[in-house]
Amino acid sequence: MSPAQQNAYDTHFEQFTLPFRDNYLTMEELYNGKKNVIIEIGFGMGDATHQIAQDNPDKSYIGIEVHRPGVGKLLYQIEQNNVQNLRIIEHDAVDVLDRMIPDDSISGFHIFFPDPWPKKKHHKRRLIQSEFVSRLEKKLKSGGYLYAVTDWENYAEHIMDVLTESSLENRYKHYADSQDWRPGTNFERKGREKLHSIFEMMFIKK
Ligand SMILES: C[S@@+](CC[C@H](N)C(=O)[O-])C[C@H]1O[C@@H](n2cnc3c(N)ncnc32)[C@H](O)[C@@H]1O
Repeated sequence: MSPAQQNAYDTHFEQFTLPFRDNYLTMEELYNGKKNVIIEIGFGMGDATHQIAQDNPDKSYIGIEVHRPGVGKLLYQIEQNNVQNLRIIEHDAVDVLDRMIPDDSISGFHIFFPDPWPKKKHHKRRLIQSEFVSRLEKKLKSGGYLYAVTDWENYAEHIMDVLTESSLENRYKHYADSQDWRPGTNFERKGREKLHSIFEMMFIKK
């Protein structure tokens, strides 16, 4: 961690994080006084995360990440920009979903540039698999969305297959239009530098 990230981590961890626990969050913890809560899984350095929260002060946001320097960086941004509607859970997202998130409670999930695991023998390590999508489906409210973006064509095809087989409904005919409200991310920039195309998917719980 950089000194600024470490300092933010040491100073603001308690204020802006929800500690991992084996009990569902209360409605107050989850909604933080708002009507809708959006969860971002694997926010990396959190560039898009705090920007989206600042752009939508009427919604509550929770970012889940295991990479501690990213947690430090996002804590720094929350404090610097006085972001009131964003909390962090530093833990594995699968456990967080299972243990802390009540069913039918989430208005949207964001997954931006999940680890691509490009080698075929590693594809099973990819986060977005049918079991994982079943978890998300369970946690979404009716009308809630899953918004996934990747720059790996082969992963995009896999995500599209898994989502199409799920009970979620594609909001678009195939890949989604680029959402102009989504800020760019660190990994998106790296993908664009390699001239990768960007594939977006937006599916809704009926
Ligand atoms: C390729 S990075 C993308 C980061 C960011 N979304 C971006 O676009 O720059 C994927 C991130 O997902 C996080 N991640 C992977 N599996 C996770 C899990 N099960 N729970 C929480 N975070 C996870 C990794 O630590 C990593 O920071």
